[in-house]
Amino acid sequence: MTPRTLQQVMPAMETSDGAGVKLRRSIGQSPQARLDPFLMLDEFGTDNPQDYISGFPAHPHRGFETVTYMLDGHMLHEDHLGNRGDLKSGDVQWMTAGRGIIHSEMPQQLEGRMRGFQLWINLPAREKMKPAGYRDIPAASIPETVLSGGGSAKVIAGTLRLGERDIAGPMQGLSTEPVYFDVRLEAGGVFEQSLPAGHNAFLYVYEGDAAVGPAGAARALPRRSAGILSAGDSVRVAAAGEGARFILLAAKPLREPVVQYGPFVMNTREEIEQAVRDYQASRLTA
Ligand code: CO
Repeated sequence: MTPRTLQQVMPAMETSDGAGVKLRRSIGQSPQARLDPFLMLDEFGTDNPQDYISGFPAHPHRGFETVTYMLDGHMLHEDHLGNRGDLKSGDVQWMTAGRGIIHSEMPQQLEGRMRGFQLWINLPAREKMKPAGYRDIPAASIPETVLSGGGSAKVIAGTLRLGERDIAGPMQGLSTEPVYFDVRLEAGGVFEQSLPAGHNAFLYVYEGDAAVGPAGAARALPRRSAGILSAGDSVRVAAAGEGARFILLAAKPLREPVVQYGPFVMNTREEIEQAVRDYQASRLTA
C-alpha cells in the first residue's frame, strides 16, 4: 500500500451565489483550483436565515453533475420539466444535468440551521449531451457504519472497505467511479481506507481538525479547507483533540479540456457558445 499524503491545502473562500446565499468555496474558487473531474465544492452552513432565505431561483446547467448533500435543513428542488424533490437532513440529490436542466433550489424553512454541500463533477465529452436525470437518495438508503477506531462513516457513492467487509453506497456505475464518504471521528480517532490508485482525491474538514498522512508523517488539515491528496492507494486521517467530521471525495480523472462559462461546462469554446445560444432560444434541454 502506498499511503497518500496531503499535497495541497486549499482554504475555502467566502462567497455568495444564487440570490445571495452565503457559501464557502474551496475546489473551483478559480479555474486553476479544480481537481479533475471535480469542478467545485461549496459548503453552505449558517444559523442565520438572512444567509440562505433567498435560495437559488431558476438557473440552467449543462455538461456536468451536481450533487447536493443536506446535513441540516430543508430545500425544495423543482425543474422546468415538473420534477420536484424535497431534500431534508441527511438526504442527497444526484443530478446529471447532461444536455440541460433549468431548476431552482429554494429553502423551505424560515429559521434554524441550513448546512450542507454542493459538489460539481464533470462528465466525459461523450456524456455531456445526454438527457438530464436525477437520483434522489433519502438518508435512510445511505449506509452508515461504525468504525473500529470510534466514529462512523456514511457511504454515499463508491465502496467503503473495512477489513473483509465491503459497504457499497447507493451511487455506483458512473463513468468517473466517484467515491463520496461522510466520516465522523471521535477525539483521537483514526480512519484508514484504501482508495483506487488512479483516482484524484481530496477531503474537506467541516468540524474539528484532522491530520492526513501516514502515522508519524501526518500533516494538519485545517477546518474549512480542501486537502488535495497525492497519488497512492490508501489514506489515513487522524482526528485532533475534539474529533473531526469530514467528507472524502475521489474520482477517476477525465483528462479532457474544460471550458466553463458559469453553469455551462463543456470541452470547447464553440460548445459553450452553442449552450448560450440554446439557452437564449429556450432550446437548452430540447
Ligand atoms: Co443548480
